[in-house]
Amino acid sequence: MTGTESHAQDHDRDATTSAGRPIVCVVGARPNYMKMAPIIRALAAHGDAVPPILVHTGQHYDAAMNDRFFTALGMPRPAVNLEVGSASHAVQTAEIMKRFEPVLDRFDPAAVLVVGDVNSTIACALVAAKKGVPVVHVEAGLRSYDRKMPEEINRVLTDQIADLLYTTERSAAANLHAEGIADERIVFVGNVMIDTLLANLSAAVPAGITLAGLPIEQAALAGGYGVVTLHRPSNVDDRETLVRLLGALREISQRLPLVLALHPRTQARIDEFGLAGTLDAKRVAILPPQGYLEMLGLMSKATLVLTDSGGLQEETTALGVPCLTVRENTERPITIAEGTNTLCGTDAQRIVEAAMDVLATGGKRGRSPELWDGHAAERIASHLAGWVTARHHLLDAASAAPVVSIKKAA
Ligand code: UD1
Repeated sequence: MTGTESHAQDHDRDATTSAGRPIVCVVGARPNYMKMAPIIRALAAHGDAVPPILVHTGQHYDAAMNDRFFTALGMPRPAVNLEVGSASHAVQTAEIMKRFEPVLDRFDPAAVLVVGDVNSTIACALVAAKKGVPVVHVEAGLRSYDRKMPEEINRVLTDQIADLLYTTERSAAANLHAEGIADERIVFVGNVMIDTLLANLSAAVPAGITLAGLPIEQAALAGGYGVVTLHRPSNVDDRETLVRLLGALREISQRLPLVLALHPRTQARIDEFGLAGTLDAKRVAILPPQGYLEMLGLMSKATLVLTDSGGLQEETTALGVPCLTVRENTERPITIAEGTNTLCGTDAQRIVEAAMDVLATGGKRGRSPELWDGHAAERIASHLAGWVTARHHLLDAASAAPVVSIKKAA
């Protein structure tokens, strides 16, 4: 098998046949970790019923995007790391599939559980479905209805082949029904990402510590600050768009100091396009990708968050912090209807106006959506344990049933 194998002997096929067969839980990229952490804990709490085995595809690998999160979230070390790394979508997806197949042969799981919408999600779901292993998708049914987003393709396809679909908001079921997915496969459980947020809020690193020594420190602590993340290819890979967005940030920063936590993709584009000097260092602090607890501390005390991330739209809603989403659409409509999110597109003037509006009015406060209560992972584990048991009984009954031969009518 390719990749690093730790504790391989702990998870041998033989070892898993006596008790419940394992649930192979897949993570690959940064936003997966905060979703998977509470699920792993909740599955483990069910003893032998649904023992989790964590598999990392290695889609993200930088310490700042990866190890640091595992430590902060108290995640176990993955049993297997497929170490696929970066590549084009086709190569990355294909490579994950090739390397994941032997993992299923080895562990013979009761199900494969995938989260979110990254390339690792669809790649592992597809391998499992083709091998007849049930697929469980957590955060199912979200739709931006924008097929130019790679994540939208990943969501639609994963949901089609999933046997069990756990949703974070009620609108997801309607999206799934419209795609022909039967209601009995869909279970509304709430939001596992918010489980992690609520569990870690008291351990968040205070903003004052993260901002200490930066040129914006005094202004930010005295008069507030904004937190910015940008990483979507549609926003950062095109020079003209990136110039426009940085221009908007420059303008906003004259009124509100900003902290920009840069994804490696965005950093690479800023360097490549020669845009490093665009922002005023006295008003915008450019930081490397932040750890989970640092980001939580920064966001929870921010005046506003400006982002193109899916996860931050939900986290700001849970925190009651106004969020301006630099996209024309969102797959998370509840953050707009009930939460603190506002779509402001990628037009510089619109973004600046939206930010000024937040400064003038305090912005949306919203309320926490239904079942974003810190217990979504427990609901998943209880339901999944019952589902796996019922499925085994059904399979046992089917294999024990007498073979009935149907004779041709004379
Ligand atoms: C992926 C997800 C996206 C998610 C994002 C969070 C897909 C299709 N996209 O996008 O939904 O919001 O993760 O971060 O799966 N890179 C590094 N170090 C790393 C990882 C990536 O330097 O550890 C750089 C590489 O140059 C790489 C680029 O970032 O080519 C893009 O990485 P990739 O995993 O392809 O997608 P993301 O943009 O991170």
